[in-house]
Amino acid sequence: MPTHPGGKIYNGVKRRDVRCFHCHGLRGGGTSLGPSLIQSGKTIPPRKFVSAVVHGRSGMPSFKSVLTEKEILLIADWLEKVAALKE
Ligand code: HEC
Repeated sequence: MPTHPGGKIYNGVKRRDVRCFHCHGLRGGGTSLGPSLIQSGKTIPPRKFVSAVVHGRSGMPSFKSVLTEKEILLIADWLEKVAALKE
C-alpha cells in the first residue's frame, strides 16, 4: 500500500532518515534486526505504540526528534491495514 501516508513514512519514502522497514521488514513482517509489527499494529494500544517509537527500546533508536505523534499514528494505522490484508 505505497500510497498510504503511514506506509510512506515507514518505508523511508517520505524521509530517508526514517526507515522502519530496515529492521521491521518491508510490510512489517520483521527481520533479524527487529520483531514483526503485524501483531503489534493490531494489539498494542496506540498510546503504547507511540511511546515505543518515541522512546525507542533496546536495539531500536528513539524517534523523538524525528517523528510527530500524528506521523507515528499514521504508521500504526498503515500496519493495521497491512495486517488486515494478510488475514
Ligand atoms: C535499528 C533497527 C530498528 C529500527 C530502524 C526501528 N525499529 Fe522498532 N524495534 C526494533 C527492535 C530491536 C525492537 C524490539 C525492542 C525490544 O527488545 O523490546 C523494536 C520494537 C518496536 C516496537 C514495539 C513492538 C512491541 O511489540 O512491543 C514498535 C511499535 C516499533 N519497534 C516500531 C517501529 C517503527 C514505527 C519504526 C520506524 C519509525 C521502527 N520501529 C524502527 C528495531 C528497530
